[in-house]
Amino acid sequence: MSKPLEGIKIIDFTHVQAGPACTQLLAWFGADVIKVERPGAGDVTRNQLRHVKDADALYFTMLNSNKRSLTLDTKTAQGKEVLTKLIQDSDVMVENFGPGALDRMGFTWEHIQSLNPGMILASVKGFSEGHAYEDLKVYENVAQCAGGAASTTGFWDGPPTVSAAALGDSNTGMHLAIGILTALHQKIKTGKGQKVAVSMQDSVLNLCRVKLRDQQRLDALGYLEEYPQYPHGEFSDVVPRGGNAGGGGQPGWVLKCKGWETDPNAYIYFTVQGHAWAPICKALNKPEWIDDPAYNTAEARQDKIFDIFAFIENWLADKTKFEAIDILRKFDIPCAPVLSMKEIANDPSLRASGTVVEVDHPKLGKYLTVGSPIKFSDVTVEVTASPLLGQHTNEVLAQLGYSQEEISAMHDAKAV
Ligand code: COA
Repeated sequence: MSKPLEGIKIIDFTHVQAGPACTQLLAWFGADVIKVERPGAGDVTRNQLRHVKDADALYFTMLNSNKRSLTLDTKTAQGKEVLTKLIQDSDVMVENFGPGALDRMGFTWEHIQSLNPGMILASVKGFSEGHAYEDLKVYENVAQCAGGAASTTGFWDGPPTVSAAALGDSNTGMHLAIGILTALHQKIKTGKGQKVAVSMQDSVLNLCRVKLRDQQRLDALGYLEEYPQYPHGEFSDVVPRGGNAGGGGQPGWVLKCKGWETDPNAYIYFTVQGHAWAPICKALNKPEWIDDPAYNTAEARQDKIFDIFAFIENWLADKTKFEAIDILRKFDIPCAPVLSMKEIANDPSLRASGTVVEVDHPKLGKYLTVGSPIKFSDVTVEVTASPLLGQHTNEVLAQLGYSQEEISAMHDAKAV
Protein backbone atom coordinates (compact mmCIF):
# COMPACT_ATOMS: atom_id res chain seq x y z
CA MET A 1 0.00 0.00 0.00
CA SER A 2 1.34 3.44 -0.84
CA LYS A 3 2.21 5.87 1.93
CA PRO A 4 0.33 9.18 2.29
CA LEU A 5 3.31 11.40 1.45
CA GLU A 6 4.66 9.19 -1.33
CA GLY A 7 5.73 11.35 -4.27
CA ILE A 8 6.64 14.37 -2.08
CA LYS A 9 10.34 15.14 -2.49
CA ILE A 10 12.04 16.87 0.41
CA ILE A 11 15.52 18.38 0.51
CA ASP A 12 16.60 17.84 4.09
CA PHE A 13 19.15 20.55 4.73
CA THR A 14 18.88 20.09 8.47
CA HIS A 15 21.18 19.13 11.30
CA VAL A 16 21.24 18.41 15.03
CA GLN A 17 17.67 17.81 16.27
CA ALA A 18 14.97 20.37 15.47
CA GLY A 19 15.08 20.03 11.68
CA PRO A 20 15.89 16.29 11.53
CA ALA A 21 12.98 15.46 13.87
CA CYS A 22 10.63 17.21 11.43
CA THR A 23 11.94 15.54 8.28
CA GLN A 24 12.11 12.12 9.95
CA LEU A 25 8.38 12.38 10.68
CA LEU A 26 7.66 13.24 7.04
CA ALA A 27 9.90 10.36 5.88
CA TRP A 28 7.98 7.92 8.09
CA PHE A 29 4.81 8.97 6.33
CA GLY A 30 6.29 8.27 2.90
CA ALA A 31 8.07 11.42 1.69
CA ASP A 32 11.35 10.95 -0.18
CA VAL A 33 13.67 12.80 2.21
CA ILE A 34 17.16 13.48 0.88
CA LYS A 35 19.51 14.56 3.62
CA VAL A 36 22.13 16.92 2.20
CA GLU A 37 25.36 16.74 4.20
CA ARG A 38 28.81 18.17 3.96
CA PRO A 39 31.25 15.64 2.37
CA GLY A 40 33.56 13.95 4.86
CA ALA A 41 31.75 15.32 7.90
CA GLY A 42 27.98 15.16 7.64
CA ASP A 43 25.54 16.11 10.35
CA VAL A 44 27.53 16.89 13.50
CA THR A 45 25.40 14.43 15.48
CA ARG A 46 26.87 11.49 13.53
CA ASN A 47 29.90 12.00 15.75
CA GLN A 48 28.38 13.22 18.96
CA LEU A 49 28.36 10.87 21.97
CA ARG A 50 29.27 7.76 19.96
CA HIS A 51 29.23 4.53 21.92
CA VAL A 52 30.41 2.24 19.10
CA LYS A 53 33.69 3.14 17.41
CA ASP A 54 33.31 4.20 13.76
CA ALA A 55 29.52 3.81 13.84
CA ASP A 56 27.09 6.74 13.67
CA ALA A 57 26.00 7.91 17.10
CA LEU A 58 22.52 7.12 18.38
CA TYR A 59 21.86 10.86 18.40
CA PHE A 60 22.00 10.72 14.61
CA THR A 61 20.40 7.34 13.99
CA MET A 62 17.38 8.14 16.17
CA LEU A 63 16.60 11.33 14.22
CA ASN A 64 17.34 10.34 10.66
CA SER A 65 15.63 7.05 9.94
CA ASN A 66 13.89 6.43 6.60
CA LYS A 67 16.00 9.10 4.82
CA ARG A 68 18.56 9.03 1.99
CA SER A 69 21.95 10.72 2.39
CA LEU A 70 23.56 12.85 -0.32
CA THR A 71 26.92 14.46 0.37
CA LEU A 72 27.30 17.82 -1.31
CA ASP A 73 29.61 20.77 -0.73
CA THR A 74 27.16 23.56 -1.45
CA LYS A 75 29.92 26.15 -1.29
CA THR A 76 31.49 24.85 -4.52
CA ALA A 77 30.19 25.74 -7.98
CA GLN A 78 29.35 22.10 -8.73
CA GLY A 79 27.63 21.70 -5.38
CA LYS A 80 25.52 24.79 -6.05
CA GLU A 81 24.60 23.41 -9.46
CA VAL A 82 23.43 20.13 -7.94
CA LEU A 83 21.46 21.96 -5.24
CA THR A 84 19.84 24.09 -7.95
CA LYS A 85 18.70 20.96 -9.79
CA LEU A 86 17.45 19.45 -6.55
CA ILE A 87 15.42 22.59 -5.82
CA GLN A 88 13.90 22.46 -9.29
CA ASP A 89 13.05 18.80 -8.75
CA SER A 90 11.63 18.96 -5.19
CA ASP A 91 8.53 20.10 -3.33
CA VAL A 92 9.97 21.12 0.03
CA MET A 93 13.31 22.29 1.38
CA VAL A 94 13.80 22.17 5.15
CA GLU A 95 16.72 23.93 6.84
CA ASN A 96 17.79 24.88 10.33
CA PHE A 97 21.11 26.63 9.78
CA GLY A 98 22.21 29.59 11.81
CA PRO A 99 20.64 32.91 10.77
CA GLY A 100 21.67 34.00 7.26
CA ALA A 101 23.62 30.83 6.34
CA LEU A 102 21.34 29.92 3.41
CA ASP A 103 21.55 33.49 2.03
CA ARG A 104 25.33 33.43 2.34
CA MET A 105 25.34 30.18 0.36
CA GLY A 106 23.55 32.09 -2.43
CA PHE A 107 20.12 30.51 -1.92
CA THR A 108 17.93 33.39 -0.82
CA TRP A 109 14.16 32.89 -0.70
CA GLU A 110 13.83 35.06 -3.82
CA HIS A 111 16.37 32.91 -5.69
CA ILE A 112 14.72 29.67 -4.55
CA GLN A 113 11.33 30.96 -5.72
CA SER A 114 12.77 31.94 -9.09
CA LEU A 115 14.09 28.38 -9.46
CA ASN A 116 10.85 26.73 -8.37
CA PRO A 117 7.73 28.84 -7.63
CA GLY A 118 6.09 25.77 -6.10
CA MET A 119 8.84 25.28 -3.53
CA ILE A 120 7.98 25.29 0.16
CA LEU A 121 10.96 26.55 2.15
CA ALA A 122 10.64 25.53 5.78
CA SER A 123 13.04 26.99 8.34
CA VAL A 124 13.77 26.69 12.02
CA LYS A 125 15.55 29.54 13.76
CA GLY A 126 16.05 30.29 17.44
CA PHE A 127 13.99 33.47 17.31
CA SER A 128 11.44 34.70 14.79
CA GLU A 129 12.26 37.15 12.02
CA GLY A 130 12.42 40.71 13.31
CA HIS A 131 12.88 39.61 16.94
CA ALA A 132 15.50 41.55 18.89
CA TYR A 133 17.53 38.33 19.18
CA GLU A 134 17.03 37.15 15.58
CA ASP A 135 20.78 36.97 14.95
CA LEU A 136 21.42 34.45 17.76
CA LYS A 137 22.33 30.82 17.23
CA VAL A 138 20.24 28.68 19.51
CA TYR A 139 20.26 25.21 21.04
CA GLU A 140 17.60 23.40 23.06
CA ASN A 141 18.18 24.84 26.51
CA VAL A 142 18.62 28.38 25.22
CA ALA A 143 15.14 28.11 23.71
CA GLN A 144 13.68 26.67 26.90
CA CYS A 145 15.03 29.68 28.78
CA ALA A 146 13.77 32.19 26.22
CA GLY A 147 10.36 30.54 25.80
CA GLY A 148 9.26 30.67 29.45
CA ALA A 149 9.80 26.99 30.25
CA ALA A 150 12.87 27.36 32.48
CA SER A 151 11.53 30.19 34.64
CA THR A 152 8.43 28.14 35.45
CA THR A 153 10.04 24.69 35.87
CA GLY A 154 11.66 23.29 39.00
CA PHE A 155 11.14 23.98 42.68
CA TRP A 156 10.40 27.42 44.07
CA ASP A 157 13.56 27.49 46.19
CA GLY A 158 15.85 26.34 43.35
CA PRO A 159 17.13 27.92 40.13
CA PRO A 160 15.26 27.96 36.79
CA THR A 161 15.35 24.41 35.42
CA VAL A 162 15.28 23.01 31.92
CA SER A 163 13.18 20.00 31.03
CA ALA A 164 14.56 16.73 29.68
CA ALA A 165 11.81 16.85 27.06
CA ALA A 166 13.12 18.50 23.88
CA LEU A 167 10.70 21.40 23.99
CA GLY A 168 13.07 23.56 21.96
CA ASP A 169 14.25 20.97 19.44
CA SER A 170 11.88 18.13 18.58
CA ASN A 171 8.87 20.18 19.60
CA THR A 172 9.86 22.90 17.13
CA GLY A 173 10.35 20.21 14.49
CA MET A 174 6.79 19.00 15.08
CA HIS A 175 5.48 22.55 14.68
CA LEU A 176 7.43 22.84 11.44
CA ALA A 177 5.97 19.55 10.15
CA ILE A 178 2.46 20.91 10.75
CA GLY A 179 3.47 24.09 8.87
CA ILE A 180 4.84 22.10 5.93
CA LEU A 181 1.74 19.91 5.64
CA THR A 182 -0.45 23.03 5.80
CA ALA A 183 1.58 24.69 3.02
CA LEU A 184 1.41 21.51 0.92
CA HIS A 185 -2.36 21.52 1.36
CA GLN A 186 -2.61 25.17 0.34
CA LYS A 187 -0.43 24.48 -2.69
CA ILE A 188 -3.03 22.01 -3.95
CA LYS A 189 -5.40 25.01 -4.19
CA THR A 190 -3.03 27.77 -5.30
CA GLY A 191 -0.24 25.89 -7.06
CA LYS A 192 2.22 28.15 -5.24
CA GLY A 193 4.86 27.40 -2.68
CA GLN A 194 5.63 29.59 0.32
CA LYS A 195 8.02 30.15 3.18
CA VAL A 196 7.20 28.45 6.48
CA ALA A 197 9.13 29.70 9.49
CA VAL A 198 9.05 28.41 13.06
CA SER A 199 11.13 29.74 15.90
CA MET A 200 12.23 27.65 18.83
CA GLN A 201 11.25 30.37 21.30
CA ASP A 202 7.72 30.51 19.88
CA SER A 203 7.36 26.73 19.92
CA VAL A 204 8.42 26.52 23.57
CA LEU A 205 6.03 29.31 24.48
CA ASN A 206 3.22 27.54 22.65
CA LEU A 207 3.64 24.68 25.12
CA CYS A 208 3.91 27.08 28.05
CA ARG A 209 0.67 28.91 27.36
CA VAL A 210 -0.85 27.95 30.72
CA LYS A 211 1.98 29.85 32.41
CA LEU A 212 1.05 32.98 30.46
CA ARG A 213 -2.52 32.30 31.64
CA ASP A 214 -1.17 32.18 35.20
CA GLN A 215 0.78 35.44 34.85
CA GLN A 216 -2.44 37.26 33.97
CA ARG A 217 -4.37 35.62 36.83
CA LEU A 218 -1.52 36.50 39.21
CA ASP A 219 -1.55 40.13 38.00
CA ALA A 220 -5.28 40.26 38.71
CA LEU A 221 -5.45 38.34 42.01
CA GLY A 222 -1.99 38.37 43.59
CA TYR A 223 -2.11 34.58 44.15
CA LEU A 224 -2.54 31.32 42.23
CA GLU A 225 -4.67 28.89 44.17
CA GLU A 226 -3.44 25.71 42.46
CA TYR A 227 0.26 26.35 43.24
CA PRO A 228 1.91 24.84 46.36
CA GLN A 229 2.64 28.42 47.49
CA TYR A 230 -1.08 28.86 48.23
CA PRO A 231 -2.35 29.43 50.84
CA HIS A 232 0.64 29.18 53.17
CA GLY A 233 3.46 30.73 51.09
CA GLU A 234 4.23 34.06 49.45
CA PHE A 235 3.77 35.13 45.83
CA SER A 236 5.89 37.73 44.06
CA ASP A 237 4.69 39.43 40.87
CA VAL A 238 5.93 36.67 38.54
CA VAL A 239 4.63 33.13 38.02
CA PRO A 240 6.61 30.98 40.45
CA ARG A 241 8.07 27.54 39.88
CA GLY A 242 5.47 25.08 41.10
CA GLY A 243 7.45 21.88 41.63
CA ASN A 244 5.29 18.94 40.61
CA ALA A 245 1.93 20.64 41.02
CA GLY A 246 -0.76 19.87 38.47
CA GLY A 247 -1.09 22.74 36.01
CA GLY A 248 -4.87 22.76 35.75
CA GLY A 249 -7.64 22.65 38.31
CA GLN A 250 -6.71 19.17 39.62
CA PRO A 251 -4.12 19.16 42.42
CA GLY A 252 -1.49 16.48 41.95
CA TRP A 253 1.98 15.57 43.17
CA VAL A 254 4.74 13.01 42.78
CA LEU A 255 4.49 10.62 45.74
CA LYS A 256 6.96 8.15 47.22
CA CYS A 257 6.28 4.42 47.04
CA LYS A 258 7.93 1.38 48.59
CA GLY A 259 11.64 1.37 47.86
CA TRP A 260 12.07 5.10 47.20
CA GLU A 261 15.10 5.17 49.51
CA THR A 262 17.16 3.20 46.98
CA ASP A 263 15.21 3.43 43.72
CA PRO A 264 15.20 6.99 42.31
CA ASN A 265 12.00 6.26 40.39
CA ALA A 266 9.89 4.50 43.03
CA TYR A 267 7.21 7.17 42.76
CA ILE A 268 3.77 7.65 41.26
CA TYR A 269 1.95 10.77 40.11
CA PHE A 270 -1.33 11.08 41.97
CA THR A 271 -4.11 13.42 40.91
CA VAL A 272 -6.86 14.51 43.27
CA GLN A 273 -9.57 14.90 40.67
CA GLY A 274 -12.38 16.91 42.26
CA HIS A 275 -15.33 14.72 41.26
CA ALA A 276 -13.39 11.56 42.12
CA TRP A 277 -13.05 12.40 45.81
CA ALA A 278 -15.34 9.57 46.97
CA PRO A 279 -13.43 6.86 45.04
CA ILE A 280 -10.13 8.30 46.28
CA CYS A 281 -11.32 8.01 49.88
CA LYS A 282 -12.49 4.45 49.23
CA ALA A 283 -9.17 3.50 47.65
CA LEU A 284 -7.30 4.94 50.65
CA ASN A 285 -9.60 3.28 53.20
CA LYS A 286 -10.63 6.67 54.49
CA PRO A 287 -14.44 6.59 54.06
CA GLU A 288 -14.97 9.19 56.80
CA TRP A 289 -13.46 11.87 54.50
CA ILE A 290 -16.16 11.36 51.84
CA ASP A 291 -18.79 13.56 53.49
CA ASP A 292 -16.61 15.46 55.94
CA PRO A 293 -17.08 19.19 55.17
CA ALA A 294 -13.42 19.73 56.07
CA TYR A 295 -12.48 17.54 53.08
CA ASN A 296 -15.35 17.06 50.66
CA THR A 297 -14.80 20.11 48.42
CA ALA A 298 -11.73 21.17 46.51
CA GLU A 299 -11.77 24.48 48.38
CA ALA A 300 -11.90 22.77 51.77
CA ARG A 301 -8.95 20.54 50.82
CA GLN A 302 -6.82 23.42 49.54
CA ASP A 303 -5.05 24.37 52.77
CA LYS A 304 -4.36 20.74 53.71
CA ILE A 305 -3.52 19.31 50.31
CA PHE A 306 0.03 18.47 51.38
CA ASP A 307 -1.29 16.73 54.50
CA ILE A 308 -3.49 14.67 52.19
CA PHE A 309 -0.48 13.85 50.01
CA ALA A 310 1.46 12.86 53.15
CA PHE A 311 -1.40 10.55 54.12
CA ILE A 312 -1.34 8.97 50.65
CA GLU A 313 2.43 8.49 50.88
CA ASN A 314 1.89 6.68 54.13
CA TRP A 315 -0.64 4.43 52.35
CA LEU A 316 1.91 3.88 49.58
CA ALA A 317 4.76 2.95 51.94
CA ASP A 318 4.20 -0.82 51.64
CA LYS A 319 3.29 -0.81 47.91
CA THR A 320 5.52 -0.69 44.86
CA LYS A 321 4.55 1.89 42.24
CA PHE A 322 3.07 -0.87 40.07
CA GLU A 323 1.08 -2.40 42.95
CA ALA A 324 -0.25 1.05 43.82
CA ILE A 325 -1.40 1.75 40.26
CA ASP A 326 -3.10 -1.63 40.07
CA ILE A 327 -5.18 -0.67 43.10
CA LEU A 328 -5.84 2.95 42.12
CA ARG A 329 -6.85 2.16 38.52
CA LYS A 330 -9.83 0.19 39.88
CA PHE A 331 -11.08 3.44 41.42
CA ASP A 332 -10.66 5.41 38.18
CA ILE A 333 -8.04 7.70 39.69
CA PRO A 334 -5.80 9.51 37.14
CA CYS A 335 -2.32 8.28 38.10
CA ALA A 336 0.77 6.64 36.65
CA PRO A 337 4.07 5.17 37.80
CA VAL A 338 7.17 7.32 37.27
CA LEU A 339 8.87 5.18 34.64
CA SER A 340 12.61 5.07 34.16
CA MET A 341 14.11 4.95 30.65
CA LYS A 342 15.10 1.35 31.37
CA GLU A 343 11.49 0.45 32.12
CA ILE A 344 10.31 2.30 29.00
CA ALA A 345 12.89 0.52 26.84
CA ASN A 346 11.61 -2.87 28.02
CA ASP A 347 7.89 -2.08 28.16
CA PRO A 348 6.04 -4.73 26.10
CA SER A 349 3.09 -2.37 25.46
CA LEU A 350 5.36 0.26 23.90
CA ARG A 351 7.02 -2.39 21.72
CA ALA A 352 3.65 -3.77 20.65
CA SER A 353 2.34 -0.33 19.65
CA GLY A 354 5.45 0.56 17.63
CA THR A 355 6.29 3.45 19.95
CA VAL A 356 9.61 1.86 20.87
CA VAL A 357 11.13 0.15 17.84
CA GLU A 358 14.21 -2.00 17.37
CA VAL A 359 16.12 -1.15 14.20
CA ASP A 360 19.06 -2.94 12.60
CA HIS A 361 21.87 -0.66 11.44
CA PRO A 362 24.73 -1.94 9.25
CA LYS A 363 27.46 -0.52 11.54
CA LEU A 364 25.77 0.10 14.87
CA GLY A 365 23.91 -3.21 15.04
CA LYS A 366 20.53 -3.33 16.72
CA TYR A 367 19.34 -0.23 18.53
CA LEU A 368 16.14 1.14 19.97
CA THR A 369 14.46 4.23 18.68
CA VAL A 370 11.17 6.02 19.21
CA GLY A 371 8.71 5.22 16.45
CA SER A 372 5.76 7.27 15.32
CA PRO A 373 3.70 8.60 18.20
CA ILE A 374 0.93 9.17 15.65
CA LYS A 375 -1.08 6.03 14.92
CA PHE A 376 -3.31 5.70 11.85
CA SER A 377 -5.98 3.17 10.98
CA ASP A 378 -4.82 3.02 7.38
CA VAL A 379 -1.11 3.79 7.45
CA THR A 380 1.61 1.52 8.75
CA VAL A 381 4.82 3.28 9.74
CA GLU A 382 7.94 1.18 9.25
CA VAL A 383 11.08 2.64 10.78
CA THR A 384 14.19 1.82 8.76
CA ALA A 385 17.85 2.50 9.58
CA SER A 386 19.34 5.94 9.11
CA PRO A 387 21.57 6.24 6.03
CA LEU A 388 25.36 6.06 6.18
CA LEU A 389 27.06 9.31 5.17
CA GLY A 390 26.69 9.68 1.41
CA GLN A 391 25.07 6.27 1.03
CA HIS A 392 22.75 7.53 -1.70
CA THR A 393 24.95 10.17 -3.35
CA ASN A 394 25.41 8.36 -6.66
CA GLU A 395 21.81 7.20 -6.76
CA VAL A 396 20.43 10.74 -6.22
CA LEU A 397 22.85 12.30 -8.71
CA ALA A 398 21.87 9.72 -11.34
CA GLN A 399 18.20 10.46 -10.69
CA LEU A 400 18.97 14.15 -11.31
CA GLY A 401 20.32 13.15 -14.74
CA TYR A 402 24.08 13.14 -14.15
CA SER A 403 26.13 10.59 -16.10
CA GLN A 404 28.59 8.20 -14.40
CA GLU A 405 31.51 10.28 -15.76
CA GLU A 406 30.05 13.49 -14.33
CA ILE A 407 29.45 11.80 -10.98
CA SER A 408 33.05 10.50 -10.89
CA ALA A 409 34.34 13.98 -11.72
CA MET A 410 32.34 15.43 -8.82
CA HIS A 411 33.85 12.85 -6.47
CA ASP A 412 37.34 13.70 -7.75
CA ALA A 413 36.70 17.41 -7.20
CA LYS A 414 35.41 16.62 -3.67
CA ALA A 415 32.15 18.43 -4.44
CA VAL A 416 30.22 15.37 -3.25
N1 COA B 1 28.22 22.35 2.24
C1 COA B 1 28.91 23.47 2.53
N2 COA B 1 28.66 24.24 3.61
C2 COA B 1 27.68 23.83 4.43
C3 COA B 1 26.91 22.68 4.19
C4 COA B 1 27.22 21.91 3.03
N3 COA B 1 26.56 20.81 2.73
N4 COA B 1 26.03 22.54 5.18
C5 COA B 1 26.21 23.57 6.01
N5 COA B 1 27.20 24.36 5.57
C6 COA B 1 27.71 25.58 6.18
C7 COA B 1 26.69 26.68 6.25
O1 COA B 1 26.53 27.29 5.01
C8 COA B 1 27.34 27.58 7.30
O2 COA B 1 28.34 28.35 6.69
P1 COA B 1 28.59 29.94 6.99
O3 COA B 1 28.35 30.15 8.44
O4 COA B 1 30.01 30.11 6.56
O5 COA B 1 27.65 30.70 6.14
C9 COA B 1 28.07 26.59 8.20
O6 COA B 1 28.03 25.35 7.52
C10 COA B 1 27.54 26.39 9.59
O7 COA B 1 26.17 26.60 9.71
P2 COA B 1 25.46 26.85 11.14
O8 COA B 1 24.09 26.36 10.99
O9 COA B 1 25.57 28.27 11.56
O10 COA B 1 26.25 25.86 12.11
P3 COA B 1 26.78 26.01 13.61
O11 COA B 1 27.32 24.69 13.96
O12 COA B 1 27.68 27.17 13.79
O13 COA B 1 25.46 26.31 14.48
C11 COA B 1 23.28 25.88 15.34
C12 COA B 1 24.61 25.28 14.86
C13 COA B 1 22.35 24.71 15.58
C14 COA B 1 23.49 26.66 16.63
C15 COA B 1 22.71 26.80 14.23
O14 COA B 1 22.60 26.06 13.05
C16 COA B 1 21.36 27.41 14.57
O15 COA B 1 21.22 28.31 15.38
N6 COA B 1 20.31 26.91 13.89
C17 COA B 1 18.97 27.45 14.03
C18 COA B 1 18.29 26.98 15.30
C19 COA B 1 18.40 25.50 15.44
O16 COA B 1 17.88 24.76 14.63
N7 COA B 1 19.05 25.06 16.53
C20 COA B 1 19.35 23.68 16.77
C21 COA B 1 18.27 22.99 17.29
S1 COA B 1 18.63 21.29 17.42
